[in-house]
Amino acid sequence: TTVEWEVESYDMGGHDTYMHKEISEQADAVDRVLRGRIDDRFSTVHLGGLNLDAREARAVRRVKILGCGSAYHAGQIGAQMIEELARVPADAEPASEFRYRNAVVDPDTLYIAVSQSGETYDTLAAVQELKRKGARVLGVVNVVGSAIARETDGGVYVHAGPEVCVVSTKCFTNTAVAFALLALHLGRIRDLSVADGKRIIAGLRRLPEQIAGILRDEERIAELAGEYANAKSMMFVGRVRGFPVAREASLKLKEVSYVHAEAYPASELKHGPLALIEPAVPTVAVVPDDDLLEKNRATLEEIKARSGRILAVAHREQEKADHTIVVPKNEDELDPVLMGIPLQLLAYHSALALGRDIDKPRNLAKSVTVE
Ligand code: G6P
Repeated sequence: TTVEWEVESYDMGGHDTYMHKEISEQADAVDRVLRGRIDDRFSTVHLGGLNLDAREARAVRRVKILGCGSAYHAGQIGAQMIEELARVPADAEPASEFRYRNAVVDPDTLYIAVSQSGETYDTLAAVQELKRKGARVLGVVNVVGSAIARETDGGVYVHAGPEVCVVSTKCFTNTAVAFALLALHLGRIRDLSVADGKRIIAGLRRLPEQIAGILRDEERIAELAGEYANAKSMMFVGRVRGFPVAREASLKLKEVSYVHAEAYPASELKHGPLALIEPAVPTVAVVPDDDLLEKNRATLEEIKARSGRILAVAHREQEKADHTIVVPKNEDELDPVLMGIPLQLLAYHSALALGRDIDKPRNLAKSVTVE
C-alpha cells in the first residue's frame, strides 16, 4: 500500500509537472529552511525542536544517520558535513539495512532518522527499534506531525513544503541544508571557530540566489539532456563531497527516465567499472573546485583515454569533458547542496525527452509505508 496524496489539492502553478514545479521552487524552499534560525551574535543557528542541550550535544561521540532512497543520500551529505564542521565521526546507512542487521546500539551515539514523508515504514521501524533499546533519536523530517516526527526525541523540520512528485527534489536539497544547520550547531558547541561559523553562515545566505542562478541555465541543461538521454547506461562519479551528489543524481535519472545508471566513487573506477566505459556509456562527473580537483581531473583523463563521453558539473570549464555545466562556488562544505541541482534538471529533461510519466514513475510510490 501507499499513501495517496491528494494531488488535486496542490496547485501546479503553471508547470506541466510537479517535478518541474518542485525543482523551480528550491530557492524559496532553501530560504524557508534558513528563516529565523541564524544567530549572528554567536555565529551559530537556533534549532528550536532539537531537544538536545549543549552538555548533551558535547557528549555525543558518534552520529548515525538512517533513511531510504533520496533521504539516505541526503543523510550521506549530512554525515560528511557533521564530520567536517563538528569533527564527530558520522555515517549514513539505509534504514532498512540497519533494522535487519541487529545493529549495536550505542548510548553515546546520536541517531538521526531522515524522511520527507515521515511515514516510510523501514525508517520508522528503525526508529522504534532504537527507542526500544534506549537510544536518543532525532528526526530530519519534512511533513510536520508525521509518524517519524512524533516518535523521535526531537529534530529539525526541513520546511520544503508539500512535495507531490514521487521523486524527491526540493526536499532533498532542503534536507542537505537542514544538515548543514545541524552540523554548524554541533560544530559551534564543540570546536568550530567563530570565523568558520561566520563563513558557513555567509555561505548559507548565498544559497538561494545561487540556486536561482543554476535554474536560469535550464535551457542549456535541457539541450544536454537531449544529447545524453539515449545512452545505454550512465556512470556517475564523484569523490568525497561529490560522491553522494553522484549517487543521488544516478538515482534520480533511474527513477524518472528509466535509463540505467550507476554511481561510483571516482577513485573506485579503476577497480572495475572502467571496463564499462565506451562511447555508449557516458559519465557524469561531479568536479568541485576543492582540494580534490586535481584527482578528479585525472579521473576525467582516464575516462577520455577509454573514449568515454563526459558531462562535468564543476565550478569552472573542464577541458577534458565534452560538456561542462558550471555551477556557482560556495564554501567547500556547502558545495554538495548546489551541485545536485543541475542534475535534477538533467534527469527531468531526459525523462521528458523519453516521454516518461514524470510525476508517477512506474513501480514507485511517494511513500512506502509497508515492509
Ligand atoms: C520512496 C520514494 C523515494 C524516497 C523514499 C524515502 O522510495 O520513491 O523518492 O526517497 O521513499 O521516502 P521518505 O518519505 O522517507 O523520504
